[in-house]
Amino acid sequence: MAESRYVIIDGNELEYRAGETILGAARRAEIEIPVLCHDDRLTPAGACRICLVEVDGARLMQPACHTRTAAGMVVRTATPKVERNRRFITSLHLADTIADRAAAEDNNPSKLHDLARRYGTLGEWAHVASPRAGRPHDDNPFVGFRPDRCIACSLCTRYCDEIEAVSAITLAFRGAHTTISTADRLALTDTTCELCGGCIDVCPTGAMTEKPALAWGKPERELEKVRTTCNFCGVGCQLDLNVDRAANRVVKATSPPPGTTVNDGNLCVKGRFANDFIQHPDRLDTPLVRGDDGQLHPATWDEALDRVVAGLQGVAARHGDDALCFISSSRCTVEENYLMQKMARAAFRTHNVHQCAAT
Ligand code: SF4
Ligand code: SF4
Ligand code: FES
Repeated sequence: MAESRYVIIDGNELEYRAGETILGAARRAEIEIPVLCHDDRLTPAGACRICLVEVDGARLMQPACHTRTAAGMVVRTATPKVERNRRFITSLHLADTIADRAAAEDNNPSKLHDLARRYGTLGEWAHVASPRAGRPHDDNPFVGFRPDRCIACSLCTRYCDEIEAVSAITLAFRGAHTTISTADRLALTDTTCELCGGCIDVCPTGAMTEKPALAWGKPERELEKVRTTCNFCGVGCQLDLNVDRAANRVVKATSPPPGTTVNDGNLCVKGRFANDFIQHPDRLDTPLVRGDDGQLHPATWDEALDRVVAGLQGVAARHGDDALCFISSSRCTVEENYLMQKMARAAFRTHNVHQCAAT
């Protein structure tokens, strides 16, 4: 008999692809399987068991994120047994973390609580006080860890190993004491940690938290995400500014989902955390022009740009075009840098143009 070239998931016949997991095949068929410890960018760990599905001929349910398909495999993802397991697993994980959704979410959304609400298991089981402990003292300014919210899914440590490639954090201790720690339980700033904050982004429970956003407390309003381009270097990473519109404040910056932008769900320490300048009282938000009194005074953009043009043309007239030099910044976009060299060459006929990263 010819070997089947198909995998059947919930009755859908899909072409078999060698090496593909059940989760990957299900997604091809637009069948949703819930996940907590899975991230397409990372090696599967099969730690949370929320994605268990039934496979014909298998004695036990199989983790969809971790089990590779085989030709002829028949998978069922929505049977009463599978659904019962999902309810049970969310209850178990919730008993292991803080059950009060409002408290749990304070600016760090929890995927686990989203699932618990979906399966109606919020508050079903009492919270069992966790014996986990964090690092004794960690005064790094950005990345916090709340052991009582951790379900030991290892997403944060795998991210740190496989994407950031610094292995600053690890799963430590055994059994119910398993927690996230560093070598010798050092503060993150005493380790190889680059404070990229990726561990915060991938954490499904809010156990890894962003300290500055936490200091805000839980906003009464939904934060609005505003997509923008990071201006710290020339790479062009996309980031979402999470804005509290009523308070006119940027509460935090997060990465767009993996696979959707050039930075694939990642940010560096500057893009993620260095955004307080936006609200800083010293930030210039209007042009300043020096008056006859030698002092800087607020001006309109037209007034300021007229002054710039007069100054540049004055130097060129007195000393020649090559007396001018135009210097741009790697914090500008490619288009802005292009316009700068265009102005130098076309308007002032000089090749004296440079940019700090020389891109
Ligand atoms: S902030 Fe980045 S480098 Fe530091 S522990 Fe988290 S993932 Fe690792
Ligand atoms: S801190 Fe978050 S990502 Fe890390 S193991 Fe705990 S629950 Fe998972
Ligand atoms: S998502 Fe498959 S075991 Fe966690």
